Amino acid sequence: MLFILLGVVLAVTGGTCETVLEVMAQEGSQAVLPCLVSDSQSTHYAAFQWVKKGKRGESTVCRREKSGLVYRGSVLGHRSHCLGSQFGDYSLYIDAVREEDAGQHVCSVQGHGLGRGTTTWKVMLRVMKVSFSLPEAIEGDKLQVKCIVTPKPDMLYSTEQYRWKLNGVDYKGNGYRRSSIPIPSVSQSDRGNWTCCVDYRGKATEATQFLRVKGIEHPSNNNALVYAAIGSNTILPCVFTQGLTSNATWSRLSKGSSSSSSFYRLGSNSRRHPPPSLPLSFIRPPLSPTSLWDQSARLERVELGDEGSYVCSGTVESRMVKRELELVTARVLSSPSTKRTPLTLTCQLSNDKEVTKYEWVRVTYDNSSVATVTPVGKNKTLKLTEDDMGEWVCRYYGERGLLGNVTYHLHLMGGLESGRPEEQSYNRGALVIGFGILILLVLLIALQIYRNHQRRKMILPYPALENIVHSLANERERRERRGINVRKNSEPMEEQA
Ligand SMILES: *[C@@H]1O[C@H](CO)[C@@H](O)[C@H](O)[C@H]1NC(C)=O
Ligand SMILES: *[C@@H]1O[C@H](CO)[C@@H](O)[C@H](O)[C@H]1NC(C)=O
Ligand SMILES: *[C@@H]1O[C@H](CO)[C@@H](O)[C@H](O)[C@H]1NC(C)=O
Ligand SMILES: *[C@@H]1O[C@H](CO)[C@@H](O)[C@H](O)[C@H]1NC(C)=O
Ligand SMILES: *[C@@H]1O[C@H](CO)[C@@H](O)[C@H](O)[C@H]1NC(C)=O
Repeated sequence: MLFILLGVVLAVTGGTCETVLEVMAQEGSQAVLPCLVSDSQSTHYAAFQWVKKGKRGESTVCRREKSGLVYRGSVLGHRSHCLGSQFGDYSLYIDAVREEDAGQHVCSVQGHGLGRGTTTWKVMLRVMKVSFSLPEAIEGDKLQVKCIVTPKPDMLYSTEQYRWKLNGVDYKGNGYRRSSIPIPSVSQSDRGNWTCCVDYRGKATEATQFLRVKGIEHPSNNNALVYAAIGSNTILPCVFTQGLTSNATWSRLSKGSSSSSSFYRLGSNSRRHPPPSLPLSFIRPPLSPTSLWDQSARLERVELGDEGSYVCSGTVESRMVKRELELVTARVLSSPSTKRTPLTLTCQLSNDKEVTKYEWVRVTYDNSSVATVTPVGKNKTLKLTEDDMGEWVCRYYGERGLLGNVTYHLHLMGGLESGRPEEQSYNRGALVIGFGILILLVLLIALQIYRNHQRRKMILPYPALENIVHSLANERERRERRGINVRKNSEPMEEQA
């Protein structure tokens, strides 16, 4: 642990060589209680001892006889080191110092120097620690963070002498100048290293303790924004404190963006709007995930309209904890282009309140499909001509850095296709299937007309598609009844059609 030592020389009384000192050490660190004899003409093995003064009298910490024999008392046991060097240093080292080690310690060195008297060092050891009123807090708990100095010096009663840091940053919350900080409702933002700094007799000492807050660690606060490009897959994070098992429930709270007017929340007008259903490609966390505390959900394919608020909730030690997050969808809108006007691409986010800047880059691939990225613009919109075929990516940044990106592919026709590659192949696939079905339908109709014409020597007008399908079904039934005969007849006709 961190070595923290504060020595304050109070007074050095002359002739008899008595020194009074204060040492403040963080609990768990190594404390050094100094005992120095400045006269360096020392005999090699002066007799010395360290005594701890307690309520029930004195107890020996360690002692060395003139003969050189060293005794170690049972008070500190192996945590104490009394070295006793020949250079006049008789300091006591205490490893992993504890609260109960605090108190007055006296070092006395006898017969040091030729014919001199006893040198005495009185060292007051104060142990400082940060403690929490609950050893393990759950989100929502009421908690106190306390800075405890044992024994507490009178001078510390002034509240101006305490300062607090949370994760290394000055804490300015409720009561931040006091020895204890009240937290009415603990959240993940209170999680981390709490450091108490005490200004005592002109010197600063600090002690640090880690506060664990059980609950949902990621996202750590409500209404976190999660960005995803339309057509991409994404993860809606919900990670509980490691080691917890919680069966999280996912639901959808609202559709649309919190920054738009179409947004609504469950609550005030929940009667008018039932809660929206989860998107089609929503995948709940598996029942037996690799880490039980990771209850993140997935969206296989983000669609337009999936944006909105989602809520993940679970129980931690029979307390309900939940986290709301907003899915923000990103897409590229292209203005209709004609031969003369250039094509305008717009980077469109369902909620852009966190976005501080945009960047457009062009991605090109060389022979070995290594991508080269060239910055082309810093505006939300980008103007292109139809010759600018290829891949264009809009990156959007917030205060915490890159938030995400969305890709646009400009093809020969220009402006027809947008989104990510998966979306395009999907669109193309749908188009091919659609055309296939249409052609098949036309073929069947033609075949039907032809067959009826041949068989009955008459033409039936078909006013509507329903009729076609209906007679088609009738025909199929008839065909099945007649058996192979019909099939033989129809084969050459199919070829003709
Ligand atoms: C707290 O301090 C420990 C030890 O210095 C460090 O490993 C840890 O990352 C810190 N935690 C946070 C949340 O800063
Ligand atoms: C979570 O659900 C699984 C399956 O339904 C069940 O076996 C398990 O006990 C549940 N765990 C908790 C912590 O509720
Ligand atoms: C691409 O690779 C082929 C063969 O590997 C080479 O002949 C050609 O010059 C390369 N083209 C470019 C533009 O590097
Ligand atoms: C970007 O926007 C600024 C002002 O909004 C404008 O002056 C500038 O011409 C734009 N740049 C491009 C490349 O469109
Ligand atoms: C866009 O984001 C994806 C996923 O984060 C990343 O793999 C890709 O390199 C990014 N593209 C650009 C051009 O920044």
